[in-house]
Amino acid sequence: MMNVLPELYDQSNNLQKQDSQFILQSLKNDYDKRHIGLLIDVGCGSGNITQDIVHCVDVDKAMGLDLNQPMVEYAQKIYGNKVLSFHLGDICDQWDKVSSIPGIVENGVDIVTSSYCLHWVSDQSKAMSNVARMLKPGGKCYLTMFSWSQLLPIQEQITFHPRWANIFRQHLATDPEEKPTIKQTNSELEMPIRARRKSSAPFPVFEIPSIEERTKKWSDLCTQCGLDTIEVKVNDSTFTYDDIEGFKGELQSLCHYLSYIPEDQRDQFMNDYFEHMDNCYIKRQETLPKVKVDYQFMSVIARKPSNQSETSNN
Ligand SMILES: C[S@@+](CC[C@H](N)C(=O)[O-])C[C@H]1O[C@@H](n2cnc3c(N)ncnc32)[C@H](O)[C@@H]1O
Repeated sequence: MMNVLPELYDQSNNLQKQDSQFILQSLKNDYDKRHIGLLIDVGCGSGNITQDIVHCVDVDKAMGLDLNQPMVEYAQKIYGNKVLSFHLGDICDQWDKVSSIPGIVENGVDIVTSSYCLHWVSDQSKAMSNVARMLKPGGKCYLTMFSWSQLLPIQEQITFHPRWANIFRQHLATDPEEKPTIKQTNSELEMPIRARRKSSAPFPVFEIPSIEERTKKWSDLCTQCGLDTIEVKVNDSTFTYDDIEGFKGELQSLCHYLSYIPEDQRDQFMNDYFEHMDNCYIKRQETLPKVKVDYQFMSVIARKPSNQSETSNN
């Protein structure tokens, strides 16, 4: 799970910013010259993208929601104002708890946005049912999520490193049906590792679901909570980090393997991890000091039907 200082994150979420253009452009297309009551940004992080979102629509009130207290405090301090406020909350909580956050009521929110949060959450089905519940009939959600990166198989090789192999064998080579015991993991990535590992291998063998499976999963999640899907798409993209340091900063904040390592060994683990990434990826880049990564992100637009009799696929 993300474990990064808010002020550092605020300076380094350039990839997320690049893909937030999807949310900003879609909002401009759909809400140009329309006045909006309330917008909620789920998993707002340090708040800079929430601010961009608020600037591109004519909105009375906007709220950023995040379960990381330092992020919420930072966002409120830097980006909070009369229109935009930031609140602590878990989008996977029971509805009673979510709706106890001042401002969030059933059928009360015009737009829900979420940039690069929903691939992290522990219960995507609960998260989407809360999103659906807070949306007004006719209201829409605009979501982006991490979906795939060319780095995934290279990153996974760290689980084979002689110093760490036993730890990963112990944690991951269990019954594939077993529920993960470590909370706050990247559900999009770790569930497939467990569910799909080859049973004869001592370690998880990473196999990312096909594009069809990934889009079907998100279409189904929307449909199951009563939302009509307007767009569910896996987008091919490339991000270029200006320097190696920026690339390593991103690697560190996204290193979900760290949660398996005892705290007193984490520095050593990160050294080994960077050395591995250096040898197998960074040094081989022809663009150095810039580092280029091909990846995919998921984009979702869904709408709550205006009334019960509306059919799906609006
Ligand atoms: C990668 S950051 C994205 C931040 C920001 N939206 C952006 O695009 O830069 C993911 C954020 O989601 C938050 N988050 C993860 N799970 C959450 C949950 N269940 N409820 C609310 N926020 C959550 C994390 O605390 C983190 O700040």
